[in-house]
Amino acid sequence: MNLILLGPPGAGKGTQAKRLEDHYGLKQISTGDMLRAEVRSGSEIGQQAKAIMERGELVPDAIIIAMLAARVSRPDLAQGFILDGFPRTVPQAEALDVVLKEKAMPLDHVIELQVDDDALVERISGRFTCAKCGEGYHDSFKQPKAPGICDACGGTEFTRRADDKAETVASRLEAYHRQTAPLLPYYASKGILRVVDGMAEMGEVARQIEAILGTLPRRDKDQGQDKG
Ligand code: AP5
Repeated sequence: MNLILLGPPGAGKGTQAKRLEDHYGLKQISTGDMLRAEVRSGSEIGQQAKAIMERGELVPDAIIIAMLAARVSRPDLAQGFILDGFPRTVPQAEALDVVLKEKAMPLDHVIELQVDDDALVERISGRFTCAKCGEGYHDSFKQPKAPGICDACGGTEFTRRADDKAETVASRLEAYHRQTAPLLPYYASKGILRVVDGMAEMGEVARQIEAILGTLPRRDKDQGQDKG
């Protein structure tokens, strides 16, 4: 099963992609995470991307498409993948069509997470992650069970993203509406666009996505115990 999760910054793409990876063995491919790793490593791509990301703008298509094509060539996608944050422009979507056709990897669903713009600033500005394992948390919606200790790995260091400031979030939203929203009619015309209510609480969003996936077998340890 090959999916795209589409939605504005803070819609919950990463949250739901990680969950699908845990439960179904699909691989999350997050171009944002890949770019942040390039920035941390100080690579040439990272040096080009850093300032662009901090302004809340999109990294040039040529860089992203080359990065994505290399990623889908790796041999770990047998169970399928979830694209999180890619494509973000029509040229990226067209390039993806070419790459996937070459590899005989069809797209099954493009799932739009619909969220009100007003909710996004609160979601993004409250977000933090475990510095050790990357588990995501939120000041209001998802605190670690024991304060200051990561539920997943026991880590005690947490980080906030450089582009999660309110003024940068406004640029990211503007980029979404101008450059990424045109992908909705692009995929609707192919008959593979599905819509879920991204304003619902996380477990309900997951249930709506699972309804779209249908009978895909679960692979997780907590099979049958949906924790929401
Ligand atoms: P990227 O890393 O892709 O960020 P984004 O799309 O802006 O999305 P986010 O990661 O901010 O949000 P999300 O939808 O994953 O939400 P999350 O699950 O974390 O991109 C960053 C930058 O990289 C871009 O600005 C661009 O510069 C560059 N880039 C990346 N890809 C590119 C591309 N293809 N082309 C060009 N440039 C590219 O949730 C947010 C918070 O809300 C969390 O705290 C979570 O706990 C909480 N939350 C989630 N769901 C719910 C819910 N249902 N109810 C309440 N809270 C919720």
